[in-house]
Amino acid sequence: MQDLFTEKVFNTNSPEETEALGRSLARGLTPGDVVALTGELGSGKTCFVQGIASGLNIKGYVKSPSFTIVNVYEGGAFPLYHIDLFRVSTGGELDGLGLEEYIYGDGVSVIEWADRAIGMLPERAITVKFFYTGETQRRIEFERRESGGAG
Ligand SMILES: Nc1ncnc2c1ncn2[C@@H]1O[C@H](COP(=O)(O)OP(=O)(O)O)[C@@H](O)[C@H]1O
Ligand SMILES: [Mg+2]
Repeated sequence: MQDLFTEKVFNTNSPEETEALGRSLARGLTPGDVVALTGELGSGKTCFVQGIASGLNIKGYVKSPSFTIVNVYEGGAFPLYHIDLFRVSTGGELDGLGLEEYIYGDGVSVIEWADRAIGMLPERAITVKFFYTGETQRRIEFERRESGGAG
């Protein structure tokens, strides 16, 4: 299996390839993990989340939760909290949404437009950045801070 954090940068040529990357990431996730997704509209974030859901054995279609902010998917290896901050402006509006309950909960949180909640994310969050590079091409970059480790 490819190590997403060693390779770091991937270029996909179809939605299926982006979904497959999400599935690969899902294999290494454990409860409590937070995955922060950034990238413009249409860059493939939701497509990638569909791959994560599939990798966690969650049945059923993952839709963009733009109108509900949080969608919870259960019945897989562990709960998937799909959070989409597209309609949330940075700052005050974030408070009172109760997102901490998910982010510090016992499932995996995957957050679209995560740059809008930067101060709320744990340090150990995995970051995945999406770039539109062509009609069916996307560049996808993985980043994970080394955990623990003395200075
Ligand atoms: N390589 C690719 N990876 C992901 N999506 C792609 C790719 N090529 C084309 N697409 C299309 O781009 C769109 C991505 O939409 P979506 O995943 O909802 O983006 P976002 O959640 O970032 O707004 C979909 O319509 C998908 O079919
Ligand atoms: Mg989306």
